[in-house]
Amino acid sequence: MSGAQSSPWHHWSHREPARPAGTASPDRRVKALVLAGGAGSRLRPITHTSAKQLVPVANKPVLFYGLEAIRDAGITEVGIVVGDTAAEIQGAVGDGSAFGLQVTYLPQDAPRGLAHAVLIARDFLGGDDFVMYLGDNFIVGGISDLVGRFRAERPQAQIMLTRVSDPRAFGVAELDAAGRVVGLEEKPAEPKSDLALVGVYIFSAAVHEAVARLKPSWRDELEITDAIQGLIDDGLRVESTVISGYWKDTGNVTDMLEVNRLVLESVEPCVQGRVDETSELIGRVVVEEGATVTGSRIVGPAIVGAGSTVRDSYVGPFTSIDRDCAVIDSEIEYSIVLRGASIDGVGRIEVSLIGREARVTPAPRVPKAHRLVLGDHSTVQISK
Ligand code: TTP
Repeated sequence: MSGAQSSPWHHWSHREPARPAGTASPDRRVKALVLAGGAGSRLRPITHTSAKQLVPVANKPVLFYGLEAIRDAGITEVGIVVGDTAAEIQGAVGDGSAFGLQVTYLPQDAPRGLAHAVLIARDFLGGDDFVMYLGDNFIVGGISDLVGRFRAERPQAQIMLTRVSDPRAFGVAELDAAGRVVGLEEKPAEPKSDLALVGVYIFSAAVHEAVARLKPSWRDELEITDAIQGLIDDGLRVESTVISGYWKDTGNVTDMLEVNRLVLESVEPCVQGRVDETSELIGRVVVEEGATVTGSRIVGPAIVGAGSTVRDSYVGPFTSIDRDCAVIDSEIEYSIVLRGASIDGVGRIEVSLIGREARVTPAPRVPKAHRLVLGDHSTVQISK
């Protein structure tokens, strides 16, 4: 399962044809600024102990898909903004050489906003253009086309937009007929369009001046939408690309499971572990090295991580079981199970995100009661 999603997904739709050549120097260096700090409050309790950017999608941290997209766009110098989970992110990404990147870590003392991340990255970024990539966002089709267009046209900023059914929950852009951005609003009550901002932006060094002028917003953050609005107000050129490909912010469990579903749909079936003759694998199923499947039925797309055990169980579609897990005498579907968790004798589990080393077991038969040891901010839905 190495190598991210690559070729089949390239569904970009540009709003305007590329500008004539001569306006740009396509060889200018573009850096990347990846945001991997933040509070992660919507993914509690997972984020009490772990970085949300490292929650695995098809057994690979969501952040890695972004780093691969950055590399595939021809960018090598990457600054990663880190917060409380700095050690974990550094442990996972290292110096970036495994991705073909040179990574510099930029500590942020607290999640003071996306534009604050740009502020603290000022020295790293210097006078270079840069892609700003939110580390928990997942974009099908990568960013190569977006970066290519920026290099060709050299606006002061370029944002990515996607059509959404309820724009009130997003940052929303208003465009003129040529596709140029004329205004931005954060979670508007009466949206001026259905075009929501996606978590990838490209800026020239002009953004630093706009960021330096910002005041904290009502939620006490330096907002990147305010910085972009500042560029527009200064009469600078802010272009947009509407993507028709898939985008999700994996900041909550529902979206995380949905991205996992999408990625699993394109995994290549591969069995490197041991599957006994009483087991049945149907469809796209990956059984990683050292995993054992006995007396079980696995209906793909699904992945069983290295060293995990699936015994006398049913594993249904859109399920990712990370390494060193045990699923015994149970049924699980449309779920993500993190490293070292065990699920034993509990009937059916669906639409769930189960944390590292979690134990799910049946209660004693009498009295009939649920016995729970739940982390802070956990969510449990129990069928009566
Ligand atoms: P968000 O998901 O908008 O913010 P959050 O991480 O605080 O999450 P929640 O709303 O659930 O509390 O952040 C988008 C990405 O940017 C995410 O990967 C975290 C990162 N980030 C930073 O690195 N620094 C920051 O100051 C902020 C606000 C976010």
